[in-house]
Amino acid sequence: MTKKRVLSGIQPTGNLHIGNYLGSIRNWVEHQHNYENYFCVVDLHAITAPHDPQTLAENSYTIAALYLACGISLEDSCIFFQSHIPAHSELTWLLNCVTPLNWLQDMIQFKEKAIKQGENVNVGLLDYPVLMAADILLYQADKVPVGEDQKQHLELTRDIAGRFNHQYAKQSPVFKLPEALIQADGARVMSLTDGTRKMSKSDPSDLSRINLLDSADLIQKKIKKCKTDLERGLTFEAIDRPECRNLLTLYMLMSGKSKQTVVNECQDLGWGQFKPLLAEATIEHLRPIQVKYHEVMSDKTYLESVLRSGRDRAALIADRTLAEVKAALGFSILNG
Ligand code: AMP
Ligand code: TRP
Repeated sequence: MTKKRVLSGIQPTGNLHIGNYLGSIRNWVEHQHNYENYFCVVDLHAITAPHDPQTLAENSYTIAALYLACGISLEDSCIFFQSHIPAHSELTWLLNCVTPLNWLQDMIQFKEKAIKQGENVNVGLLDYPVLMAADILLYQADKVPVGEDQKQHLELTRDIAGRFNHQYAKQSPVFKLPEALIQADGARVMSLTDGTRKMSKSDPSDLSRINLLDSADLIQKKIKKCKTDLERGLTFEAIDRPECRNLLTLYMLMSGKSKQTVVNECQDLGWGQFKPLLAEATIEHLRPIQVKYHEVMSDKTYLESVLRSGRDRAALIADRTLAEVKAALGFSILNG
């Protein structure tokens, strides 16, 4: 039986944090053996916000190395850079021409990021979800494991695919409609400095997040300083205690303990007792990832060979889909 296909990606903008890890990569790793997986570093997406050309390639290698360090296995998965496969850009143009402008203007992430970019909002930022749709549709992905913030982009991807199939490929649909794969826990990790806001790479305060490559000392310091409340006794239930829920969830996921075990262990604890437990669990969880990361980064030749073979395997699938799309749209094909 052929395995279903998974595609996902992360932007090489800055360091990855435990929100990216718990919301996204951890789920890729956990389910990878059940699927045929394509994991890309979405470097074309990274230039939709002002970026530094000097660090783009560096950050891209870092993300690819972190994929490997977190446990992506090359037996089940291929890892590649989005910009190495021209079909992503080409399909984006073709899909632009079937995507209504107002669908893009309604995207929450666009509205939020447009406010940040102020007067200099570029067309790429608006078009970002069409590029993401192209990433997914090129590989005929069945499942797309992402954090909760990407749910709307997945719905848009399905809408674009459906519209294309309806307009140009009624007899035999060109695109498969993908499904989002969103975990129950960790799909939305909150900031350490404000439990009502998402942990984010772009938060100006580094204290708001734990990065996968933070040292043990820094993790300890960040957890020591993180926002809590005045109550004693920790529970998952209290809706008016966002920090409490977030930190307990982090503890559960980092320690690998079951929810019930965490409930029993923490229900009578004060913050002063809980914080060292969370720090320890986080440091221990990230330690092997950091060791593997440095190992991979010290062998650039190996990393490049992974990316080269990822590119070659991905291109086979992507080019096939692109050819079908162009045929459906009526582009001429020259033989020879
Ligand atoms: P990005 O950093 O925007 O490229 O996001 C990469 C992946 O991490 C996507 O699947 C996001 O949904 C996920 N992600 C980002 N921030 C968080 C967060 N705070 N909690 C859970 N998942 C997240
Ligand atoms: N937009 C996603 C994010 O910000 C990143 C992304 C780009 C992606 N292309 C993708 C995720 C394709 C899943 C599949 O997190």
